Amino acid sequence: MSIDRNYHREGYDYWNNTVCCSKEAGGEPLSAEYFARMEEYKYSQEPEIQAFAQFSRYHGKKVLEAGVGAGTDFLQWIRCGAEAYGVDLTEAAVEQTTRRLKLYGLAPAELRQADCEALPYPDDIFDLAYSWGVIHHTPDTEKALAELVRVVRPGGEIKIMVYNRHSLVSFYRWWQMAFKKGRPWMTLSEVLAEHMENKGTRAFTAGEVETMFSRHPVKIKRIEKFLTCYDRKVPMSGLWSRITGANNIGWFMGIRAVKIK
Ligand SMILES: C[S@@+](CC[C@H](N)C(=O)[O-])C[C@H]1O[C@@H](n2cnc3c(N)ncnc32)[C@H](O)[C@@H]1O
Repeated sequence: MSIDRNYHREGYDYWNNTVCCSKEAGGEPLSAEYFARMEEYKYSQEPEIQAFAQFSRYHGKKVLEAGVGAGTDFLQWIRCGAEAYGVDLTEAAVEQTTRRLKLYGLAPAELRQADCEALPYPDDIFDLAYSWGVIHHTPDTEKALAELVRVVRPGGEIKIMVYNRHSLVSFYRWWQMAFKKGRPWMTLSEVLAEHMENKGTRAFTAGEVETMFSRHPVKIKRIEKFLTCYDRKVPMSGLWSRITGANNIGWFMGIRAVKIK
């Protein structure tokens, strides 16, 4: 199945040129050292991933990761013995991840370029669909969610991270890009769509997530917000987080759900 480049032009161009964490890794691109540094960097900046994903619980399970990026999490599924399927919108992500797995002599069940809004898999086949920081970048987030739910078997799990709109990162972005530039009428959503990674990036409130999930055959187990390294970079973040209750204003929102039988 080919990618509709026109539909995805904002996300495709941006992510094909910016594979997640590749700039921060440093070192000779695509070398063993580069990937080792990338892994260290990713989990030092986003340690919440380990507790959220619980990689080793999925030994022997059939896992789909949508939006693998440079493959840091995808690598963990395979190391932990999952039957791991991965997709990403861009060639660059699939190439980097393929190269990375080869370096370690690891083989996925499948890794391919595909759109998470039109997954190339039949209904009800995965034990887990996992997607960290991806479906808020695609034009139709709800369609992507519907697809992730569709391919999971009844009783299987869905674990997704999306951006939290009512977060320090959002408010600070609004301060910088709307208020300080004399455009205070801009909404948080407008600012994020214009000035956060690819054009059209979205962020949600927990209520919006609940409404979106309620339209699909899933039961939410838990919604949690994580105060991230990105929030901590905001001036006076310590003060704001004490006033508002630290995690409530975290940039990442993790959702764990189970597909209803
Ligand atoms: C912020 S990166 C996250 C990558 C990885 N999950 C991680 O945490 O390092 C977003 C990724 O989502 C991918 N992506 C965006 N839209 C997509 C879509 N419609 N289908 C599949 N992947 C998509 C991008 O190509 C990019 O690799």
